[in-house]
Amino acid sequence: MARLENIRIDEGCTSCTIVDQTRLPRELVHRTLSTPEEFYEAIATLAVRGAPCIGKTAAFAMACFAQQAALEGCSFEDARERLYAQADYLQASRPTAVNLAYELDRAREICGKTAQDAWQLAQRLRDHACDLEKNEKRIYESIARFGLDLLEPGATILTHCNAGPLGCGWPGTALGPAILGAAEGKHIKVYADETRPLLQGARLTTFELSQAGVDVTLICDNMAATVMAQGKIDAVMVGADRIAANGDTANKIGTYGVAVLANHFGIPFYVLAPKSTIDIACTTGADIPIEERSGDEIKTMWYEQPMAPEEVQCYNPAFDVTDAKIISAIITEDGVAYPPFEESLREVMSS
Ligand code: MRU
Repeated sequence: MARLENIRIDEGCTSCTIVDQTRLPRELVHRTLSTPEEFYEAIATLAVRGAPCIGKTAAFAMACFAQQAALEGCSFEDARERLYAQADYLQASRPTAVNLAYELDRAREICGKTAQDAWQLAQRLRDHACDLEKNEKRIYESIARFGLDLLEPGATILTHCNAGPLGCGWPGTALGPAILGAAEGKHIKVYADETRPLLQGARLTTFELSQAGVDVTLICDNMAATVMAQGKIDAVMVGADRIAANGDTANKIGTYGVAVLANHFGIPFYVLAPKSTIDIACTTGADIPIEERSGDEIKTMWYEQPMAPEEVQCYNPAFDVTDAKIISAIITEDGVAYPPFEESLREVMSS
């Protein structure tokens, strides 16, 4: 099967086509997004998901909105005001992954520079979106290479959620070493946590790894301790939604538990992420906003019948923060940061 493009800008640059990640692996559905409401809904419902992919979607959306404004004959000033409002609107779609805010800030910066007219502004936002796409290859291949270098050929890793090509770019962040390893005959095996409640591990990680020829085994989230105790896991590799200046890392709910287990069993715990996921403005993980989602994702979604009493209270935080003290290394496109992370992340950020 050909590589799936998570999102692309359509000809004419007024809309984007996405692979709807909520429908995989059952069916491959492409959707077209053009209005702010459509982009917002796609991000909020996880039709596009994964921190880098959400950032890219925001950048592509802003390029489309600018083109629409130019086509409607808006002046530069009117287009700019409209784009600022659209950026604020999109920013509220998901709070935790910093990549969304990061890309919207880039778009705001571009809007802040004087332009001759709305066409020139649209061209600049489109150029930025194109650059983003061009840089992806270097970023994700580099992360995958640094990650693979930390593993022995034939090693087995455990991963949580989905940090593969769909959520990032080819070959992904946490899944990159295994995918690159398969291409190079290094035979990295993967245990994938199913990742309750939205099952990104079961639905997307196993799908992407199988497509790439990686030996992948699906487990329920509550089996991670068992496979570690059985000596089956050589390293844990996960992605990130936001990394604070001290190394505390927000990622999909359940990641913290996996890190605690890895620490207990003396298994290295690696975070793999592009530098755009590092938020130096967050001093520690306590500053990271954590998204809370509907309890229906726990009670009813995926089931033919509700699996809990209708009136039961639910608490459904979508992310948790892993304490930097139990992270072995943070792998970026420009190098591997080791503890103490305050210094090493600052060095990586300036390289
Ligand atoms: O809610 P999601 O599916 O967007 O959460 C995704 C994750 O937590 C990923 O591990 C993270 O974004 C890393 S890279 C895709």
